Amino acid sequence: MTIVVAHRGASARAPENTLPAFALGVAHGADAIELDLHVSADGELVVIHDDTLDRTTDMTGAVTSLALADIRRADAGAMFPGADGSFPFRDRGLRVPTFAEVLDSLPDGVGLVVEIKARAAVAPAVEALRSHPVRAAGRASLISFDERAIDESRALDPDLPTGYLLVPGEPLEPALRYAVEHGHAAVHPWEGDLGMDPADAIARARAYGRELGCYVVNEPGRMQLLAAYGLWGFVTDVPDVARAALSQMRA
Ligand code: G3P
Ligand code: CA
Repeated sequence: MTIVVAHRGASARAPENTLPAFALGVAHGADAIELDLHVSADGELVVIHDDTLDRTTDMTGAVTSLALADIRRADAGAMFPGADGSFPFRDRGLRVPTFAEVLDSLPDGVGLVVEIKARAAVAPAVEALRSHPVRAAGRASLISFDERAIDESRALDPDLPTGYLLVPGEPLEPALRYAVEHGHAAVHPWEGDLGMDPADAIARARAYGRELGCYVVNEPGRMQLLAAYGLWGFVTDVPDVARAALSQMRA
């Protein structure tokens, strides 16, 4: 069955990569949550997409130049817009989470897709996952656009599944060959590259014995089509929409 992964949490409904967005993703029926990892100046794993605080918080500056204590002063809900032009999560105490906080709050039975944005995050992320129940349950994976990051993860923990993210337009076949040669369980192209008829891409991935995911699918008809063809899973900003769309298929 196709799995639904909440992209940066339920990021259309709450500020991306925050604890409320992850909790909402779970409440909306996501099978797993996806998050992005960077490393602070003092070596702490922080959950944020960009390499600066600028877009998503009320502060500026590169994550690598700020200590965790400084990053934690930022309002991670400041920039999320409401439908009426207000900022409903501003000044509500949302912080850029640490990876440890997300791991501590992850409910049993929910999967975790960890995207490495900064290569320096690989070793501490692998160590943090090593003793966590989500890894023992086979529900954790580590993914990246950076081949060296996922190769390093494989070297550190061959039992932690890894996935290769393709940039838009990147051909699938070489990526599948690379994944096989380096032991990566999955490849994740941009969903637009699967085309109107994803059957060929899904068949190729099967032939190589790799899982095929994709990013980011927010349109219910497209979700249903991909699921009907047997895609392994997709990330979405709207897991509530995804859960409803996939349920309708079984009704
Ligand atoms: O799941 C993959 C997807 O998250 C990659 O894109 O830019 O949202 O991290 P991005
Ligand atoms: Ca991501």
